[in-house]
This record gives sequence, structure tokens and C-alpha cells, in this order.
Amino acid sequence: DRPPPCGVVIFGASGDLAHRKLLPALFALHRRGLLPPAFFVLGCARSPLGDDGFRERVRATLRARFPDRPAGAVRAFADRHAYLSGDYDDPAFYRRLGERLAGLEAEAGTGGNRLFYLAVPPGVAPRIIEGLGAAGLAREEGRGGAWARVVAEKPFGRDLASALALDERLHRVLSERQIYRIDHYLGKETVQNILMFRFANAIFEPVWNRRYVDHVQITVAEAAGVEHRAGYYEGAGCLRDMFQNHMLQMLSLVAMEPPASFGADRVRDEKVKLLRAVRPFPPEELGRWLVRGQYGPGGTGDDRVAGYREEPGVAPDSRVETFVAARLLVDNWRWKGVPFYLRSGKRLARRVSEIAITFKEVPHSMFEGLVPAEPAPNVLVLNVQPEEGVALSIQTKKPGPKSCLTILSMDFSYRDVFGVEMPEAYERLLLDCMLGDQTLFLRHDDMEVAWSLLTPVLEAWAEERPGVGEVYPYEPGSWGPAAADGLPGADGRGWRRP
Ligand code: BG6
Repeated sequence: DRPPPCGVVIFGASGDLAHRKLLPALFALHRRGLLPPAFFVLGCARSPLGDDGFRERVRATLRARFPDRPAGAVRAFADRHAYLSGDYDDPAFYRRLGERLAGLEAEAGTGGNRLFYLAVPPGVAPRIIEGLGAAGLAREEGRGGAWARVVAEKPFGRDLASALALDERLHRVLSERQIYRIDHYLGKETVQNILMFRFANAIFEPVWNRRYVDHVQITVAEAAGVEHRAGYYEGAGCLRDMFQNHMLQMLSLVAMEPPASFGADRVRDEKVKLLRAVRPFPPEELGRWLVRGQYGPGGTGDDRVAGYREEPGVAPDSRVETFVAARLLVDNWRWKGVPFYLRSGKRLARRVSEIAITFKEVPHSMFEGLVPAEPAPNVLVLNVQPEEGVALSIQTKKPGPKSCLTILSMDFSYRDVFGVEMPEAYERLLLDCMLGDQTLFLRHDDMEVAWSLLTPVLEAWAEERPGVGEVYPYEPGSWGPAAADGLPGADGRGWRRP
């Protein structure tokens, strides 16, 4: 579907997110013919750029990203961009914004529909919403039934209390239906495919439970370090940066009950219900449930990799974690007793995100005397990235006169099968905002329940309470600290090496 006419206002238009993700995603939608027929982008930031200066930057961004596109196509798209500079704390800025929007809307014929994208640091977002509210620019229903929606980027607070306070500020101006809290993992094709895979095939759901599943592992590993983001990361750490959002979102999709429909609230009801069933971490023995690590330096000579504490902007004695592994239990009928092992970290062996469901062993092996005598359990891997696909390992007879078992993987790769370039997560998510579909966005309770689960951990870590465990150093290029092996290890299991 093509969305109705609308204008997109990007706050933070000179920033990293706008140029790395948002502008390329809008251009990609344009190429696919998925933007509204009447459309414009208004970039807002502090620097005094002017329309021409901004268009030049948009062109540079798009030329670098889409080198094969004809210059004319890039120019024509950039010409649909305008720019307004100003101070987000100044009420006069919002008056000028209102005037500018009215002019652009009349010119482009967008009928007053507005999508405000907050690509700004967390402290700034609520002030912008208040400014928009005071100037009457973000009414749920504007003239002639026009809509205003707001896309909010994480972090949504730093703990439960701050997230609730932030929400309260947003809700003074906006209704929940206007707020699109983005988690870009939900826009990834393979993450969306979890729902299709589970609920559009009849054969998996019957075995998707404690009777057949031995355990589940969710891994989001990055090879890169903190890069230039120490300013943010020093105040966040891996638990806030990856677990509160991406990791728990993937957990909820893989473990939730089937929603009655694909409607936004039906899906989100089930996700929230699942997160509410996750057993709270026992405060006195956190170290047995969560292991945190921090990458140290590694390599030598030209191959030397800086440790986290040596990265620019990081305190030399920082205790911020760049790795977390956790063991979770979901206390409901479906999952009672099935451990979910989750881990995420920076500077790990390779960039890979996957969800692996390991099924139980056969109840009885009749293959005594064969090599191996015990068939390995089946493992279903949903490969989120970089090699998007699905793989199921099965036991099979190795060809030959003797009876030998071997493990075979039935693989499906998106690239091989569909042969298309995978769309960026932001394309789908921006399109959904314009279409008014909130299914892939976090609802307020989704976010709150995730914080309720993790805030006691953050508090215990901050106070270094007894039983919380060390911040273990780990080698860059490894799979994290050895201490993390103890989480599945205590249950007689081990981490996968994807
Ligand atoms: C972001 C985190 O949300 O996700 C980053 O803030 C992380 O620290 C990134 O690098 C990972 O996303 P992706 O899409 O590259 O797996």
C-alpha cells in the first residue's frame, strides 16, 4: 500500500541517524514507489544551513550510499527536502516551524499529515514534544482529519522510573496512538519472519513448547567495538543498549502465544503477556543468572585492538559492561522449566544474530553400536543477520555400506531464494508509521515491563551488591568471558559457536 500524503519532519537532521539510516531509507522507499504521491521532508537542527545547504548534504549522503543511481534522480529527490534551523528550547522556533509547515504543505499538497521523527539525544526529545504541543502542531486530529505522529528513538529512559516519567511527559501532549517507539530489530525481515514462520505453518507450533524444546539461545554478537559512541554508551552499557529492547523483543516474538489476529494491539498484548511471565532475577544471586563482561585490549603490533577502557571518551576505570549473558525462565504452561540463554556483546568473534531452538533428544536411541550412538538433538536456527535465513539440523544416514549417522543442515537463505537486496529495517518502519500501523512499535506497557525486569539488576550492579558478580574482562574476538559458560554450563549445556 502507498501511504497517504504526508510531510516528514526530522529533528536532528544533521546527525548520524538521519544520514546513516533515515534519509537512505526514505530514498529507498521512493525508489520502490512506496512513498506517498505528495511528500516532503523538513530537516530541523541547530546549524544554520538553509534549504540549499541541506539539499547538498542530502545529495552527498545519497550519492555515497547509492552510487549507481543517476544524479538526476538523486537531485530530484533532494529537491523535496527543506530545512529549518533553530533552538529546540525557544518557543519562537515552533512558531516558525508552524509557518514553514503550512507553506510546504500548501505547496506539496500533503493535507496537513505530519510525521515528526525525533532523531535527537534522549534528553532533548521531551522538550521538542512540549514545544510542538504548546504550538498546537501535534494534534491527534488536525484540520480536515489530518494526523500527527511522532517517532521516538531509544533509549526510552534509563530505568523504570525515568521511563515512566518520560512517558508521562509525552502523554501530556500525545495519545498512545500517536507515539511510535522504534526498535529497529522489529523492522528486520528475519525478525518479522518469526511470526510468519511460527503462525503461518501448522507443523512447528505443536512442538514449540516444553515437551519438545530443550532450550533456546538468542545471540546478538557484534565484531565492532563501541566506535565513536562512548558518550552515550558510558551512560548505558549492554543491558540498557541491547537487552531492554532488541533482546527482549526477540524473546517475546519467539516465545509468545499465538495472537488472535495480526492487529497491532493483539500482537502487542501477547508480547507483553510473555514478558510478564519472565521470572524476575533473584537479587541475592544475580551472578548465577547474569554475567557481564567488558572487552580488554587484544592483539599486538598493527593488529592491536584497543580495550574498552582505552576507547576515546571512556573512563580509564569504567565498569560499564560491553557484554551480557543471561539465563531466563518463562513461568507459564508452555515454557515452564525451559531455559532461554541470551547473550549480546561488542568485539566478539563475528557479527551474527540468531535465535537457536534446540529440541530434546530422542527418548530412546535404538542405534547402539553405531557411531555416534546418541543422535544429536535437532536445532532450528533463525538466522537474523548477516546471512538471513533458516536452518534445521537433522540426523541422516551417511551414504555407504555401513550404518553411520551424520548431521545435515536444511538451509534456506533469503539471498539464494529471493535473490533480492534485503530492505533496511528503517524502510519498513518508516513506511508503517506513514500507514499508521503500530504493530512493529513498542507500546508503553511493552517498554515498562522490560524495564521492570531489568531495573533491579541495574540497581544491584550500580551498588555492587554482594552476589552480583564481577565485570569480567574478555579478549576481543572471543565469545565473551569464560564465566558466561557457567550459565548454560550449570544446566549441563553449552553456548553455540555460530
Ligand atoms: C543499536 C545499539 O540499537 O543496535 C548499538 O545502540 C548496536 O550499540 C546496534 O550496535 C546493533 O544493530 P544492528 O542492526 O547492527 O545489529
